[in-house]
Amino acid sequence: MELIKLTPGFAAELRGLDLTGPLSPAQGDALRDALHEHGVLVIRNSGPTDETHIAFSRALGELDFRTGFGLAKNRLRYNELFDASNLDEDGNVLANDHRRRLYNLGNQLWHTDSSFKSRRAAYSALRAHEVPPEGGDTEFADLRGAYEALSESQRHRIDGLMVEHSLWHSRTTAGYPPPTAEELAASPAVRHPLVHTHASGRRSLYMGAHASHIVGWSLEEGRALLGELLDHATRPAHVYRHRWGLNDVVIWDNLSTLHRATVFDDTASRRDMRRTTVHEPA
Ligand code: OGA
Ligand code: MN
Repeated sequence: MELIKLTPGFAAELRGLDLTGPLSPAQGDALRDALHEHGVLVIRNSGPTDETHIAFSRALGELDFRTGFGLAKNRLRYNELFDASNLDEDGNVLANDHRRRLYNLGNQLWHTDSSFKSRRAAYSALRAHEVPPEGGDTEFADLRGAYEALSESQRHRIDGLMVEHSLWHSRTTAGYPPPTAEELAASPAVRHPLVHTHASGRRSLYMGAHASHIVGWSLEEGRALLGELLDHATRPAHVYRHRWGLNDVVIWDNLSTLHRATVFDDTASRRDMRRTTVHEPA
């Protein structure tokens, strides 16, 4: 395995690892170590299928399953694959007002996957099955570097705070209609510490678009703080922007990074992105 840094602070391109078959436990460990060090790993033109995508992801840990809240019939055959595409169940580009399109627009807000679940996601692996001719890059930001760049007094102010996360907070922020009773019941709000010690031993922030407010603070004060931290963490100089090539796989550590989709002509061009998500250890 060869690692080539993509920015001074985090993110690396990984070469020399074959993703077209399952990984051995030793390869899984090496991949996890590289993720813990770099936060984001880019593997260019790696060419796995849905099956091998799921198989290599399993070497990283226990996989999460898509539930879908009855949003759409499954376009993808495997429940281990989350659908980040702009395609409907027949493979056609989603209409402007399609519920799943509005839902997926939430991916354009800085977030970390599944922070609205009580068991957090450790890693995600996103694969480009079809890329648009223009736009649709994905951006990443480093939450350990962001924490370390805070002043002593800023760190003191936030250490020990708890954050409430809700899927419906981020979705409604992005323009999704108010959730139905069924949706609300399927994904209730959860709480996680704002600062945690990452597997690497470094401290990291943990927030993003699903973070609704700070427990015990007024909504306004909590949202102001979360907004400040988000602006700080996503300063352009600290962001890695991935321009997708066909069959690229990007694997990221959800416990030390944020990411967001960027715009493209999504009611005209096709963009087929498929994601596996690995739970944090139980
Ligand atoms: C995701 C996601 C971003 C993108 O699948 O978790 O946020 O650019 N995707 O598709
Ligand atoms: Mn995501």
